[in-house]
Amino acid sequence: MIHVSNLTKHYGDFQALKNVSFDVAKGEILGFLGPNGAGKTTTMRILTGYMPPTSGTVTVAGYDVTTDSLEVRKRLGYLPETVPLYPEMTVWGYLDFMARLRGVDKRERRIDEAMEKVRIADHADVMIGKLSKGYRQRLGLAQALLHDPEVLILDEPTIGLDPRQIIEVRELIRGLAQDHTVILSTHILPEVSQTCTRVLIINEGQIVAEGTPERLMARLKGAERIFVQLAGADGNEARRLFQSMDGILAVDDKGNGAYEVECALGTDKRPEIARAVVNRGWGLLELRPVGMSLEEIFLKLTTE
Ligand SMILES: Nc1ncnc2c1ncn2[C@@H]1O[C@H](COP(=O)(O)OP(=O)(O)O)[C@@H](O)[C@H]1O
Ligand SMILES: [Mg+2]
Repeated sequence: MIHVSNLTKHYGDFQALKNVSFDVAKGEILGFLGPNGAGKTTTMRILTGYMPPTSGTVTVAGYDVTTDSLEVRKRLGYLPETVPLYPEMTVWGYLDFMARLRGVDKRERRIDEAMEKVRIADHADVMIGKLSKGYRQRLGLAQALLHDPEVLILDEPTIGLDPRQIIEVRELIRGLAQDHTVILSTHILPEVSQTCTRVLIINEGQIVAEGTPERLMARLKGAERIFVQLAGADGNEARRLFQSMDGILAVDDKGNGAYEVECALGTDKRPEIARAVVNRGWGLLELRPVGMSLEEIFLKLTTE
């Protein structure tokens, strides 16, 4: 459906994309995961024909984005990072304006369908300035759907939303994915595991990993790590104690009674650690699993 081949993008001297290649099949929900500045928005702008690449090619349903941009745009709906909305327009007025701008056929029906799909029809006459962030994002999705595109390209669709709105927008996206191929970008890891069928991880303009969310998580989680904070313990004795326990692979002494303990995958050594510590008569101030930050994940993936 979409072929991206050897994309590069220079902004002056700065190279934002370095030989990015990937394919997207019909029906996929592809997640584009990467930290801020990775090149997600740049890639999406090139895919949607809003900006030319420095080199490389993008085709959508066989049409080249630089030479056949009109054919490509017919097939793509785009939710940009910030949707240009006009606060003094109503929801319906804005969608009508966008539909006219795009020369959409059977305008009223298409607007009704788009509003229905993102569940905003009951807000048709509300002024955009009065909409919550969650509803603005729905309106952004509605405008992307107006011309009934095969592919939806959504740039950080849940950014700036509160937790409840995030859940609502994710559900909407999963629903839309039944009729559309979806590419979405995010810098939040749980987003891709909850929404996407496949993930591309991008860092500093390069794709550093690719796979299903499950496979990537398994690769990342070679081991489980636990943070332990003790009080009144002898440092050497504590370290020896942890090292002597079954299923503990490594002990990292953080100083001041703090340790990071690496356990074999799929084991939870917390009850055992708690018992052993209390048996020694030491204080146990903290005992918690250590989640990997996105930075650590990228480091791990890029140094493998
Ligand atoms: N118009 C521009 N001019 C110069 N540099 C830019 C421009 N747009 C983006 N960049 C730079 O390109 C890199 C990638 O940006 P972007 O694609 O927006 O990343 P992301 O969406 O992953 O946060 C960043 O370092 C950013 O500062
Ligand atoms: Mg961005």
